[in-house]
Amino acid sequence: MKIGNSSPLSSEEKTELVRECVENFNLYLNRWPDARDVESAVVEWEGEGPIVRDVWGREFIDCLGGFGIFALGHRHPKVINAIKVQLDRLALHSQWMLNPMAADAARRLAEITPGDLRKTFWCSTGTEAVEGALKLARLYTGKKKYISTINSFHGKTMGSLSVTGRDLFRKPFEPLLETTFVPYGEIEAMAEAIDGETAAVILEPIQGEGGIIIPPDDYLPAVRELCTKRNVLLIFDEVQTGLGRTGRMFGCNHTGVVPDIICLGKALSGGVIPCAAFHSTDEIWRVFHPNPFYHTSTFGANPMATTAAAATIQTLQEENLVENSARMGEYFLAGLKRLWEQFPNLIQDVRGRGLLIGVEIINAERGESIASRMFERNVLVAYTLNKPEVIRIEPPLIITRELIDEALERFGDALKEESKA
Ligand SMILES: Cc1ncc(COP(=O)(O)O)c(C=O)c1O
Repeated sequence: MKIGNSSPLSSEEKTELVRECVENFNLYLNRWPDARDVESAVVEWEGEGPIVRDVWGREFIDCLGGFGIFALGHRHPKVINAIKVQLDRLALHSQWMLNPMAADAARRLAEITPGDLRKTFWCSTGTEAVEGALKLARLYTGKKKYISTINSFHGKTMGSLSVTGRDLFRKPFEPLLETTFVPYGEIEAMAEAIDGETAAVILEPIQGEGGIIIPPDDYLPAVRELCTKRNVLLIFDEVQTGLGRTGRMFGCNHTGVVPDIICLGKALSGGVIPCAAFHSTDEIWRVFHPNPFYHTSTFGANPMATTAAAATIQTLQEENLVENSARMGEYFLAGLKRLWEQFPNLIQDVRGRGLLIGVEIINAERGESIASRMFERNVLVAYTLNKPEVIRIEPPLIITRELIDEALERFGDALKEESKA
């Protein structure tokens, strides 16, 4: 494959590209995505707004959104332009001088986060954001234990894996950090689990990979009260729920609960350059001050990533995308509920907030089959990692009613075909 080639490919070149891609995947990469064979391989090539195309020009409606990356869709022009300007000036940072983009993006983030949250550490992935939050909580409290929830997902590096609530991922890598897992949504279990050694509780305001689980309305306020009373920090992992996904800027805005530390990632990239962050108050952050080298990252605050973050926040605000997420989410949810009425033999539940929606199918096999039928109909969806019977719908926040109608029609066709199988 020619690197940096921007001219259109001939049919022969496309065939060769697909062959080479499958071969390289099978020889040189981890076994996911599954490359299988040249005949069945679908090789992604272009993206524009809510649409992704493969190398042959086959067009998919992106209702997966890169598992939450593409809040602004693919290659949003405002993000692309901002990054191009930055790229032409300074691509990466010296790490010695002050970078204005890192500072500007941090200010913008502090302006949209609730309460006294103000200080930011930039990193590149969600799992790193969680790692940093866990370290900060330990440093601030001087305690070493964590409380997390069953079926949660917080990442897969050693620290974040320690608080990820699925044995399948955790067991092969134990011993990990000391963590107690409690049922999501049950405050009594959490109250019982906290002891004198607990540094922090970590929670997703809505469990994403756990199957789009929305807790009872009084749960997060009760967790907040409990943590304050017992001197335990509250970390919200908003890597998936943050930045408009649930129809409010942050998942925690639905209840007005302010965490002590918030973790962000995915959408912060603007769908262009990896960017993530953990973010806390001046009071908690002061424990980093005696030694700013307690926690560092070479690429963390790089100007391309922080330009992407700044442009993302600005675009969400300028284009009212959080409101659009709420409106389009309601519309999508209503359409999916109609499909549930039509196919009660296949669908068990439809739930969600904003554009974070789960369709629970009667079992994982049927779920996988329906997701494949959607793919055949050029709609990208996927199951949730810790509850594979739930099909997630997580399209860009820029999605329109017309495209939702189209996706719903194809979903209906897929269900009709599945019900005959
Ligand atoms: C809530 C949550 N936290 C953390 C992560 C890990 O993020 P990353 O894959 O960028 O490391 C994810 C990824 O799906 C997530 O959904």
